[in-house]
Amino acid sequence: RLEVTETFAGISLPGHLHTQESLGFATTFPFRPSDVLIATYPKSGTTWMQEILTLLFSCGDILPAKTIPNWERAPWLEQTYFREALRDTATPRLITTHLPARVLGPALQRSKTKVIYVARNPKDVAVSFYHFHRLAKFLPDPGSFETFLTQFLEGTVHYGSWFDHVKGWLGQRHLLDILYVTYEELHQDLRGTAQRLSAFLGCALAPETLGALEQHCSFASMRDNAMANYTLIPPEIMDHSQGRFMRKGEVGDWHRHFTPQQNACFNRIYQEQMGDVELPMPWP
Ligand code: PPS
Repeated sequence: RLEVTETFAGISLPGHLHTQESLGFATTFPFRPSDVLIATYPKSGTTWMQEILTLLFSCGDILPAKTIPNWERAPWLEQTYFREALRDTATPRLITTHLPARVLGPALQRSKTKVIYVARNPKDVAVSFYHFHRLAKFLPDPGSFETFLTQFLEGTVHYGSWFDHVKGWLGQRHLLDILYVTYEELHQDLRGTAQRLSAFLGCALAPETLGALEQHCSFASMRDNAMANYTLIPPEIMDHSQGRFMRKGEVGDWHRHFTPQQNACFNRIYQEQMGDVELPMPWP
């Protein structure tokens, strides 16, 4: 395992992808009003949103999505390769981040950048993140699901607490130009959500674009698209013999992983953490 850990803003991050320099660059990045930022806690639908926005901005032309890896189409602000990958000529520039709102909020308020926050039922996030730890060699060995779930609920996993992440970004909703989207609503109504995105971004959406988007952004198409499914990443970084990045793409897979005790414990902590928070979806 490539187990170097970087600590930043009170959270652990994979040192393989982050350095103090890249993180410093992220916090002082000069956003433009025309930028579009995808903000997520890991495993919440980041890759899906990257693909949807690629198709939206290409007006349904699948060529960019089929020829450019997603980490170049919508690079991660905080990662070491960001400066190199950012396509400065693209308008809008699509940027992705897993950083918390408390780090990026002030710069985003000043720049009036459009933010799309994607959230997912944290029980499914925990399951997806657990499986991802098994294949991603830049993350610690997760041990058993029980051990991992405890760390997830404590917020000691890489990228920090899911609760803090969601509450942080939700808490800034009156200050930022932000659209909330859930993984579950992408599942339920991809068309309707794409229409909501196009209205928010002020980007026309012709019926043919919608058709192409729906087809290209399905789980099956993305699972087979090497520019979206991370199979281009070498095995010492992502060991695909341990599972696939495009694993199941389902809502509610947590039912097959949680014991009744784990579920009760999760619900208790969820209630403590999220009891008063107005949420975009009736989780968990
Ligand atoms: S990451 O590592 O943070 O970028 O991961 P992220 O992309 O946020 O989340 C990965 C999960 O999203 C699922 N996924 C999809 N589900 C349905 N439809 C489509 N098109 C799709 N694309 C990605 C992916 O399978 C991971 O979820 P799990 O539950 O592990 O399958």
